[in-house]
Amino acid sequence: MRITISTLQKMADEGQKIAMLTCYDASFAALMDEVGVDVLLVGDSLGMVLQGADSTLPVSLEDMVYHTRCVAKGARKALVLADLPFGAYQEGPAQAFRSAAKLMQAGAHMVKLEGGATMVETTRFLSKHGIPVCGHIGLTPQSVNQLGGYKVQGKTDQQAQQLQADALALQEAGASVVLMEVMPASLARSITEALHVPTIGIGAGVDCDGQVLVLHDMLDIYPGKKARFVKNFMQGATSVRGGIESYVKAVKAKTFPSEEHSF
Ligand code: KIV
Ligand code: NA
Repeated sequence: MRITISTLQKMADEGQKIAMLTCYDASFAALMDEVGVDVLLVGDSLGMVLQGADSTLPVSLEDMVYHTRCVAKGARKALVLADLPFGAYQEGPAQAFRSAAKLMQAGAHMVKLEGGATMVETTRFLSKHGIPVCGHIGLTPQSVNQLGGYKVQGKTDQQAQQLQADALALQEAGASVVLMEVMPASLARSITEALHVPTIGIGAGVDCDGQVLVLHDMLDIYPGKKARFVKNFMQGATSVRGGIESYVKAVKAKTFPSEEHSF
């Protein structure tokens, strides 16, 4: 049976951790699906790991549609989540809906957009019109130029309060999931406690309802600098399947992320 937003809510309610990985093609989708990855994120990180760009900004909606279609072909059980890329939703709800509809028609079951308070209106519009939304707060890579680099977010009390308010506002607007990227583990824990909907963390500590990593990072095949929150799951594995299996097990058993991967 297909994993849906209701399944994710139930998992969070029951304290079963959600395992998510980025995925960009049908073969990996089939493999991940078989070993129990719950959510396949067609991330705009594909700009960096597939296209060799130095940020996610050059990724087009057409790129996202293409990879979403590939992933959807391979996924039977897993929920397919697709990123709205830079420039395809920031103009407002109407533009966001047009773009999100293309991703849904390509096989996505939910779309992800970056931003807190600024995305409340858009989140409300999409979710009211049949498109489940995953919010994305904290380090939002599409705003890297505004943020001044890939840095830990929410370190001051004021920033932390803003992130907490953003998460609650997204939930209130109808977001089905809130993803939190690179922030102190204590803040991610308090946001997870405050929210009813599931939270997914990357560099946000072990207390989120689920975890995500970029596939090429956890397989240790991305040539760039390795971030603190990344773990190489090929270490000790004898196959790619084994590495991905060990990621799923570690997320479910709450042994990943540990202190060394957190802020
Ligand atoms: O594009 C992506 O891979 C992401 C994750 C880092 C959350 O958005
Ligand atoms: Na992304």
